[in-house]
Amino acid sequence: MNDADWNAVDSYIVDQLVEEDTALRAALDANAAAGLPAIDVSPAQGKLLHLLVRLSGARRVLEVGTLGGYSTIWMARALPEGGKIVSLEIDRRHAGIAEENVARAGLAERVEIRVGAALDLLGAMTGEEPFDFAFIDADKQNNAAYLREAARVSRPGAAILVDNVVREGRVTEADSGDPAIEGTRALFDALAADGEVDATAIQTVGAKGWDGFALAIVSAP
Ligand code: SAH
Ligand code: DHB
Ligand code: MG
Repeated sequence: MNDADWNAVDSYIVDQLVEEDTALRAALDANAAAGLPAIDVSPAQGKLLHLLVRLSGARRVLEVGTLGGYSTIWMARALPEGGKIVSLEIDRRHAGIAEENVARAGLAERVEIRVGAALDLLGAMTGEEPFDFAFIDADKQNNAAYLREAARVSRPGAAILVDNVVREGRVTEADSGDPAIEGTRALFDALAADGEVDATAIQTVGAKGWDGFALAIVSAP
């Protein structure tokens, strides 16, 4: 099996099961036109996020790493009336494009993009209504800290999904020297540590290559 096979199967899955409408396509087109990297979740992954948000009954979703808001749109569409996504993005230009993409999708009311370093924004969250679902998809070196902060601002039983935890198998490199891999391994250590969350990770292949995600549930205090 190689990337061409994975792509063919992903195309089949998307053709059969994933309706990528004009607003989602327009978002990817706008991202490409603005020169943003094509590191959004794939359509099938976006639909998975959408289904997980619905499954969890989430009203409040936290996202770390907005880019052009492609994943944001998938999740925002899963929210009930009055639901909200708070999405954190360090790059003001990315946030601006995401605002436009979200508005074009008719979701501006449900999405709040906060601009800044996610750790600062998370640290500043006090007295905020707890989140029911979190998607962590920003710089990988901070993933352990993002997990801890996401757990802190979420209710017990909330789900936390972390993207890109396999990185073509490089997660098993104990001394990679790559901050992204070291951050991913620190994330696994944090997921494995007793008490805070219960977690697993799943490898994936498809349009975004060989990667994977971790899913955790926040424990009761
Ligand atoms: N979730 C998006 C993709 C996010 S790409 C989607 O699937 O559509 C990662 C994003 O994280 C980039 O836009 C990058 O600017 C942002 N980012 C990187 N470091 C960050 C930090 N320290 N705080 C907040 N955002 C950060
Ligand atoms: C990268 C980041 C992502 O969130 C992703 O899904 C794929 C690649 C990256 O930084 O290379
Ligand atoms: Mg990602």
